[in-house]
Amino acid sequence: MLESKKEIPSGMQIKVPGDKSVSHRSVLFSSLAKGKSKITGFLEAEDPRNTMKSFSQLGVEFKITSPGEYLVNSPGKHNLKSPNSELDFGNGGTGIRLSAGLLTGLPNFHAVLTGDESLKKRPMKRIIDPLRSMGGDIIALGEDGRAPLEIRGKQLRPFQYKSKLASAQVKSCILLAGISSDVEVDYEESELSRDHTENMIRFLGGKIEKKEHFRFVIKPPYEFEGTEFKVPGDISSAAFFIVLALLSKKGELLIQNIGLNPARVGILTVLKDMGGKIEEENIREECGEKIGDLRIHPSGLKRIDIKPELIPSIIDEIPILTIAGLFSENGFKISHAEDLRAKESDRIHSMVTNLKSMGVKVEESQDGYEFEEVDAIHPALIQSFLDHRIAMSFQILSALTGLDLRIDDDSWIDTSFPDFKNILRSFG
Ligand code: S3P
Repeated sequence: MLESKKEIPSGMQIKVPGDKSVSHRSVLFSSLAKGKSKITGFLEAEDPRNTMKSFSQLGVEFKITSPGEYLVNSPGKHNLKSPNSELDFGNGGTGIRLSAGLLTGLPNFHAVLTGDESLKKRPMKRIIDPLRSMGGDIIALGEDGRAPLEIRGKQLRPFQYKSKLASAQVKSCILLAGISSDVEVDYEESELSRDHTENMIRFLGGKIEKKEHFRFVIKPPYEFEGTEFKVPGDISSAAFFIVLALLSKKGELLIQNIGLNPARVGILTVLKDMGGKIEEENIREECGEKIGDLRIHPSGLKRIDIKPELIPSIIDEIPILTIAGLFSENGFKISHAEDLRAKESDRIHSMVTNLKSMGVKVEESQDGYEFEEVDAIHPALIQSFLDHRIAMSFQILSALTGLDLRIDDDSWIDTSFPDFKNILRSFG
């Protein structure tokens, strides 16, 4: 096993920035709701800011009152106007896929949605096909069903859909399309993916009728009124420091105000099963989401079998979980995670390439990778592959080992967590 050189300074407490998924949704739902809303705790990072900028091109006013706090004034979903230029979602898969749904269901609307080099490589057929089945007019202008996406919004039909993917982006896209067109949606997924969209619908007074397993129905009317959206801290950002603290030699870390949505806390379940000592404190609920503080204690970790049904709830945390695996008795294995290949980078390829460059003997498969217990790694130049979570994961590894693991381009971190390096530095 690798040995950590890190110690946590005494009395260490941190807060992580706003949840990315909830920040995107706060923009979309405050735009759907007519009148004034307030957003607090918004993630000031490139991805959610791009979503906000796109909706301001449609006539929604977002006035910043202090970092992360906005007063919103929306003309309501029936009065969103077509933009004069392309909507650019940058690196944000959530931004483009959820917005595509919302806009496809708006009658008499026209827009082209685009993004950066990484986003233009990501699969969009997963949303285009069901949106077309609803009667939507959405076409991919990129090759092989990729962005840019051209949308001519129109009235959609009520829709029943059984998704083969446990994807919250696909689910939310279809729900938002139904909401814009005021039609019923009956949705089923293979496993539970994060349910922030459903929580927000309920929070705004909408009804969700649960059916068997992972199936539910939403029904119009969806006339939402402006309200206050409180965005909790992002567990996916906290995950980097949870792993750092668990693997430190001594000390204790308190992370305050984190979203603990049950469909997002797979990382805690897995780390606890691996032997991690993590306590949940001060549990409460805000805007339909479970929130709390986490206290993390240094712990020895061991390999476990990660169950396939947990994959949707750890999908964004697999890179940092892999770093924990380097310090685990008997090594680490991830499988049933083929969708990792469709993230900001092909995360199976990105992790395997970087692990190999440090001397880890790792075996790649189509849906994951595996390595035996690791005794040593050596310095290497880490490739970010245009992916924030790859860059941050290896910076945590560098902090734990003291090894020089320079990243070719760490500017991608700004897409989700601009303050990451400052917080990391505060650990000394
Ligand atoms: C997200 C859903 C997940 C996740 C992404 C955010 C969301 O993607 O990886 O970072 O906010 O709905 P998939 O739905 O494609 O799994």
